[in-house]
Amino acid sequence: MNLFFEIQQLKKERNAIILAHNYQIAEIQEIADYVGDSLGLSIEAARTKTDVIAFCGVHFMGETAKIINPSKKVVIPDLHAGCSLADSCSAKDLEAYLQRHCQKNYYVVSYINCSAGVKALSDVICTSGNAVKIVSRIPKDRHILFVPDQNLGAWVIEQTGRTMELWKGNCHVHVEFTRDSIERARKEHPEAKVVAHPECSYAVRLLADEVCSTEKMIAYCQNSPSHAFVIVTEEGMLHRLRREIPGKIFIPGPTGHCACAECHFMKMNTLEKLYRCLHALTPEILLPEELRAAAEIPLRRMLEWSK
Ligand code: 13P
Ligand code: SF4
Repeated sequence: MNLFFEIQQLKKERNAIILAHNYQIAEIQEIADYVGDSLGLSIEAARTKTDVIAFCGVHFMGETAKIINPSKKVVIPDLHAGCSLADSCSAKDLEAYLQRHCQKNYYVVSYINCSAGVKALSDVICTSGNAVKIVSRIPKDRHILFVPDQNLGAWVIEQTGRTMELWKGNCHVHVEFTRDSIERARKEHPEAKVVAHPECSYAVRLLADEVCSTEKMIAYCQNSPSHAFVIVTEEGMLHRLRREIPGKIFIPGPTGHCACAECHFMKMNTLEKLYRCLHALTPEILLPEELRAAAEIPLRRMLEWSK
């Protein structure tokens, strides 16, 4: 069976769009209608007119698409594709924390890498691509609680000068990059610029020439006069960069113990599973309406503030 052909056929029959994150395997990136970062994917999900969204990413991304598209069918290739960062902040723990500190009347900013339950408790959502812009819009007299990524939160504090309290969560993939591993990469490739995702630790961000979201990495590498780049994020990003900027060299950022970093959740999706989910229209993302509607408010606020 030619999976590429069969998926294209099914896509037409189901009136579906295939959205894929930059960390997906090359074959999925090649067949997707849109490949991008969390922000671009949310905008695309809000814009699509199709009946079905096949979301190739991790669970919270499919959930985000469902939150803004209650009447559409949102299917994902693997229901078990989770996110260690989203798991580091449960809705139950966040609710208990907000209750314990109710006198602070926090303005809760949640990185999009969180569950629908956490989104429902938030005032506004952000992605790594718009976090600085979103936080800058929050009234100065409000105490901000930023969840769940402490590294992204710390980077936003550096960029905006805003004081924020940070939830102590992190991404198990991005914290594998170390000061030593990036220093080693710099020595091996002295001509290359180092581009890191803001989910990396402070020590790694300090060594980078540029810190930005996966989508902004494309523009940075395109516009930079440099010819080579060490890419300090999940390795799926290299495919997108090599495809869109064929004339330049992209080197995977090494971790403390590996030549490159891989998110095993992102890599749970395969072409076979994509075919199966379009064929059977399952696994489907389903949310209780009350929860979905509560999560939609901060998400729509983010989309509005991102314009
Ligand atoms: P982006 O916001 O750059 O898409 O990153 C999402 C993510 O999961 C990073 O680990
Ligand atoms: Fe989550 Fe990290 Fe994987 Fe991104 S790379 S989906 S933050 S576990």
